[in-house]
Amino acid sequence: MPFPCASPEDPRPTGAGAALIVESRVGLREFNTFGLPAVAQHLVRVRSAADVRRLVDDRTWGRASKFILGGGSNVVFTRDTESLVVKVEIMGRRLVETTETAWVVEAGAGEDWPEFVQWTLEPGWSGLETLALIPGTVGAAPVQNIGAYGVELKDRFESLDAVDLVTGRSVVLDAAACRFGYRDSAFKQHLAGRSLITRVRLRLPRPWQPVLGYLDLERKVAETGITTPDSHTLFDWVCAIRRAKLPDPAVLGNAGSFFKNPVVSAEQCRDIIGRDPEVVHYPLQDGSVKLAAGWLIDACGWKGKTVGGAGVHERQALVLVNRGDASGGEVVTLARAIQESVYGRFGIRLEPEPVVL
Ligand code: EPU
Repeated sequence: MPFPCASPEDPRPTGAGAALIVESRVGLREFNTFGLPAVAQHLVRVRSAADVRRLVDDRTWGRASKFILGGGSNVVFTRDTESLVVKVEIMGRRLVETTETAWVVEAGAGEDWPEFVQWTLEPGWSGLETLALIPGTVGAAPVQNIGAYGVELKDRFESLDAVDLVTGRSVVLDAAACRFGYRDSAFKQHLAGRSLITRVRLRLPRPWQPVLGYLDLERKVAETGITTPDSHTLFDWVCAIRRAKLPDPAVLGNAGSFFKNPVVSAEQCRDIIGRDPEVVHYPLQDGSVKLAAGWLIDACGWKGKTVGGAGVHERQALVLVNRGDASGGEVVTLARAIQESVYGRFGIRLEPEPVVL
């Protein structure tokens, strides 16, 4: 039964919203894009930074262990959760400023990322088109430093607002404080479970320049003969490429790429090329080499293989899917088997992208 978070005698002002409601025994299947079954013993929805501060100050829940849930696109639930699940539903989008060199846009952490990208493109605030259709919320985007087709969130980042879950203080963090890395940030490291992102601001450089060069986009240039696509064309191309390769979570549960693309030394890469000349690899500036994890998994014969209701996507071996009734345990068993087989053949340890709970 739902019960109010703040005690009746609590004299503090309640701000814009009513007292926080903590719900008990909430099914999480519809709150994770994998569609995995799990139950949150307790769940609270926050709709403003004031709600978050109220939660931190709360006598019962302030000190409770918390799991912050955005769009649930980067989590594998393997069991019911005892932590208080904090569902971020902070909304709102606005153009913060227009200068000669940029548009700065802002959105609440609970906004849907794909809808936000479309909202920016309609009036011509271009720059997020290659990040189209990435499932999840705006608040989760910096946590993962989401990226696609040559652009990462950090390349468009201005700053974000967060609330410290221990002190209740509001902070503004710039890119340096967020410590962005490949599918990584401070929010997956020392700020994990400590800092709740409430709003994100992005800087979209003017004049806009298309980011091409990614193989799939170069193919579109060659196919269409359009060498200088506008941002709407690029958006359409990215949507078409994603739809062709990646399953729509609304139809087939998944969490996008299940593993990160591993980085190896030039020597290790040469050794692999010696045995497997076709290995897809991208030399990096520091001399190391990024390998396509999808290719490695595919080469081990995993496409279409299953463990119970969990499977490897037929068109992109880097994506694990829920064929209907998978448990989180089956997803993890499949992922471990893939890790072992890739390690056995290539000597490379694949690191999962999603958080396993
Ligand atoms: N490949 C195969 N077999 C497969 C899958 C891939 O041979 O089953 C080969 C492809 O032919 C291609 C290469 O591997 O030559 C790379 O594949 P792809 O271009 O599809 O991209 P990716 O490296 O698998 C990364 C990101 C995606 C992002 C795309 C486009 C990671 C872990 N994944 O995928 O991000 O959309 O590039 O930029 O970095 C995500 O993080 O959830 C995600 C979907």
